[in-house]
Amino acid sequence: MAMTKPATRPDNPRFSSGPCAKIPTFELSKLSDAALGRSHRAAVGKAKLKAAIDETRAILGVPADYRIGIVPASDTGAMEMAMWSLLGARKAEMLAWESFGAGWVTDVVKQLKIDAEIKTAEYGQIVDFATVDFDNDVVFTWNGTTSGARVPNGDAIPANREGLTICDATSAAFAQDLPWDKLDVTTFSWQKVMGGEAAHGMLILSPRAVERLESYTPAWPLPKIFRMTKGGKLIEGIFVGETINTPSMLAVEDYLVALEWAKSVGGLKGLMARADANAKVLWDFCDRNDWIANLADDPATRSNTSVCLKFTDVRIKDGAAFAKAVAKKLADYNAAYDIGAYRDAPAGLRIWCGATIEAADVEKLTLWLTWAFEEVLAEQTEAA
Ligand SMILES: Cc1ncc(COP(=O)(O)O)c(C=O)c1O
Repeated sequence: MAMTKPATRPDNPRFSSGPCAKIPTFELSKLSDAALGRSHRAAVGKAKLKAAIDETRAILGVPADYRIGIVPASDTGAMEMAMWSLLGARKAEMLAWESFGAGWVTDVVKQLKIDAEIKTAEYGQIVDFATVDFDNDVVFTWNGTTSGARVPNGDAIPANREGLTICDATSAAFAQDLPWDKLDVTTFSWQKVMGGEAAHGMLILSPRAVERLESYTPAWPLPKIFRMTKGGKLIEGIFVGETINTPSMLAVEDYLVALEWAKSVGGLKGLMARADANAKVLWDFCDRNDWIANLADDPATRSNTSVCLKFTDVRIKDGAAFAKAVAKKLADYNAAYDIGAYRDAPAGLRIWCGATIEAADVEKLTLWLTWAFEEVLAEQTEAA
């Protein structure tokens, strides 16, 4: 039986997991105060870069003795800068439960070639932190963007660890509580929960990470854009806005505007509540329907940002083709863009629920999901 198409589309059909939807109030005119055509070393440019660092610290609650730097090449740049600069001093443990975590394993094993133990979990699961030796340097991704599975909290990370924890938190920062005392290196990009631009990465260092930087010199050469020390001392300027190379002042302005919006919705608590409310719409939707389920089995590890769903109806013949057809139909009808599962992930959908998304739009999307599911199922039956 053909279903009627839902009457209204989401006001904003942008559910991509990166770059993510911009803040609901976004307009290009809001960037008119950008320090365009000015030097980033001039007072005006430097003040904006410093404000981006200061506001990040205030909203995320980063301790005063942690350094925050704006670095090149988005989250990848920040993670690689950290791994290249810090790893090798002791054994590493690499934890991976989806494709980005797997990418950091490749970096460490195939490129840096350091002594590392690799622990992996299937898409939808996470590694059991009770098995991890935190006297090693441990590299992990807080929220697996391509699997929708996240670390529930930092309880399993000992406060008195010998090793450093290096955490890719790009799809968690501003949406999930990050335990700063358990994280020595934290990275993220502006393009995720804040809906900013991807140009730059944020690198947050604990005092112990700084101590490592000042006491250890890696055996491999470091390109200029990775270098955080000079003569064995931290280059402090990087952490007050004196970037290593030229940043995009337009992207900086855009991030500042997003941070202002973050404050207007209640800061970190407000941002987290928005992501929670968005994700709950989809979790409830899965509970109501037996043909769709969360890829993350354990509710405690379910992401509230990159919600990954799988189709579970036994009538579906080719899971990958089915999910692709649903995603395409929703895009064709301008109901949802970019919601197909990541290329390396199991077949299904991935729907961004970060703070810049509106719960009312996720609600509207669920009607379209049901409609598209029925339509594609009917098409599949007709074709058989
Ligand atoms: C968990 C994770 N790590 C790293 C990246 C790479 O981020 P970027 O492209 O901003 O460097 C992404 C991007 O989606 C991601 O989700």
